[in-house]
Amino acid sequence: MLKETRSKLYCTGGVVLVLLLCVVVALIVNFSLDKPLTPTWSQSSAMVACVPRGGTVKQCEELGCIWRPISDDSPNCWFPEDSSQNGYGYEIKGDIQPTPIGKTMVLSRIPTTPLAYPESTPVEEVRLEVEYHDVNRLRLKFTDSKQARYEVSQHALDIRAPSTPPAADDMLYEVIYITQPQFGVKVIRKDTNATIFDTALPGFTFTDQYLQLTTRLNSSHVYGFGEHNHGRYKHDMNWRRWPIFSRGTGPKAEPLNLYGHQPFYMNIEKSGKANGVLLKNSNAMDIVLQPDPYPAISYQVIGGVLDFYIFLGPSPENVVEQYNMAIGYPVMPPYWSLGFQLCKWGYNGTAHVRDVLRRQREANIPQDVQYVDIDYTYEKLTFTYNRDGFRDLPKLVQELHDMGQKLILILDPGIGTDENVTSRAPPNNSYPALNDGVRQDVFIKNPNKTGYLTAEVWPGKVYFPDYTKPETTEWWTRCIEDFYVNQKVQYDALWLDMNEPKSFKSGSLTGSCDKNQWNNPPYLPKIEDYDKGHLYEGTICMDAVQDNWGQETVHYNVHSLYGHTMAMASYGVLRKLQPSKRPLVLTRSTFSGTGKYAVHWLGDNTSEWPQLAWSIIGMLEFNIFGIPYVGADICGFWGDTTEELCTRWMQVGAFYPFSRNHNAQNYPRVDGFIEQDPAVFGEPFVTRARDVLNTRYRLLPYLYTLFHYAHTTGSTVVRPLLHE
Ligand code: NOJ
Repeated sequence: MLKETRSKLYCTGGVVLVLLLCVVVALIVNFSLDKPLTPTWSQSSAMVACVPRGGTVKQCEELGCIWRPISDDSPNCWFPEDSSQNGYGYEIKGDIQPTPIGKTMVLSRIPTTPLAYPESTPVEEVRLEVEYHDVNRLRLKFTDSKQARYEVSQHALDIRAPSTPPAADDMLYEVIYITQPQFGVKVIRKDTNATIFDTALPGFTFTDQYLQLTTRLNSSHVYGFGEHNHGRYKHDMNWRRWPIFSRGTGPKAEPLNLYGHQPFYMNIEKSGKANGVLLKNSNAMDIVLQPDPYPAISYQVIGGVLDFYIFLGPSPENVVEQYNMAIGYPVMPPYWSLGFQLCKWGYNGTAHVRDVLRRQREANIPQDVQYVDIDYTYEKLTFTYNRDGFRDLPKLVQELHDMGQKLILILDPGIGTDENVTSRAPPNNSYPALNDGVRQDVFIKNPNKTGYLTAEVWPGKVYFPDYTKPETTEWWTRCIEDFYVNQKVQYDALWLDMNEPKSFKSGSLTGSCDKNQWNNPPYLPKIEDYDKGHLYEGTICMDAVQDNWGQETVHYNVHSLYGHTMAMASYGVLRKLQPSKRPLVLTRSTFSGTGKYAVHWLGDNTSEWPQLAWSIIGMLEFNIFGIPYVGADICGFWGDTTEELCTRWMQVGAFYPFSRNHNAQNYPRVDGFIEQDPAVFGEPFVTRARDVLNTRYRLLPYLYTLFHYAHTTGSTVVRPLLHE
């Protein structure tokens, strides 16, 4: 009987949850058709940039290309549509060779193809490796056929290839090769005969630091790519340009690059079937979208290899499942982490935290998790806690545990180096995190490896651990263990912040970054602050040196892996520390595959209405990126919220997979933004918040089950109507 009632409740609950989400999503998703901005010459196919962005008429004409500005974000200079007999790009050299799981071929550059950046050495011979991974998954990898180039290490993202291919008859796709007037590869969905990936266009470019590939799409229904603040879920294809490169900056007006690096999209084909494509590449890039009648995507990438994984679904959920199967299924969150969570940057001590906890209890607000932000640290040093207001942090944790609640602790990667502070760090007037780290040589090195690169974060001068080095994980483990065991701060989960990595001083504190190919690459994607002419704004010099698991490389290549590698290391430590518990690691910066180790929040939003709407799109996108446990700071992070906005945000946020109310102190002012925990507003806010949170809590078994499916099959937890 009880079982029956329960399952009825789950069912009704499930329907309510899905309906609520659908309503909100329907309000947000813009179903209107794109009105294409048509170019001014009669074009019969997708267009390909001859110069990725900007340029001059003169430069364009000298390259033998056509100058036709279309929009602010589109390229201005195009390859002629009607290619000369020679074509533009590459041509096939020799035969297509079979391999155990596919085909391989060498492509040779058509020498007359214009190069927008002659200073970036062209790769004359590119190898294309085609691998049939499964009936619904294949890989197309374009790489230098003569020498190894940087590519994302298997240590960071290991997408296993099978030893034998699937049976040809079972494959949902076939691959065909176009040889004239230049090389192209097409992936065709067999049952509908739809071309879903098609590079048979002029202008494929593969140089040392500028790679460009344009693929025609089956339709203009494109979703994904991140991390950005997208004002609509279905992409506006009108020559929108989306830069991808991790950046420690909060959601603001489009189209800036935000914390994570997620080069994955999904396309719903004309037949209604779906495909998804990952570009496994960690270098900075621009994605340029092109409208009907020839919808296309151009990748403009400044390093690495062009390593595409194509998933054929055919349903949108199947696409996400197949993508997750490749990159690693999302972590299974502990049940308690589905409860309501509270945080604020600016608590002035444990007494303040106790006050907040008490008033939620008195107001009967369900709350499972309390956070402490950087306020708990001694002078902002990671792995220390304050001698004053937070002196009894271990006791606070114990009290929370006694109440059946949990504590999540922030950890920043930057390890303070200021001797004046570190020499007074509790408990022993020394700072082992720094001293051991130096001893173990775990920090990112200056260009030319002359010492460690000094950046600036909350503690002032910091070194950033290089999590691509195995010794760093050992050191990180010791630091975390020491804090947990010896310093007795027995937190339940970790919150990783500032891990893009973010530096308040761009480049380095000890001198400016050299002007060179890494800091000032020939092509600078349209990232935030691109007008400064360099790639390191808000972070460290691009020619800093990282271990990259023994294949030493410049930060330029692995920058966007920083948060991902920090999450990997932290997840491993928690597994070791609490072997019987499911680790929960919350990270600000992500990469493809981070969901296997960590969960995500959408970062430093503002207490403004549009941000509430945007959060729903962000949440849907991270569900297709394989990080279904996601949410935004409820009521807004920056600024004073209002009672009305906060009420509505609590009502939406109660249905985020990750439901946390968090807000900022008024940095650098000390008086802070107004507090926004539910109890602080009194009635009628409290009743409204309690009601909606109680609804969430009633649905938790259902939500938990969805997470189980996500973890075991890769399905989404929150999904738009189009998945249904
Ligand atoms: C930036 C984070 O995004 C935010 O959530 C946090 O409160 C502040 N850093 C202070 O640690």
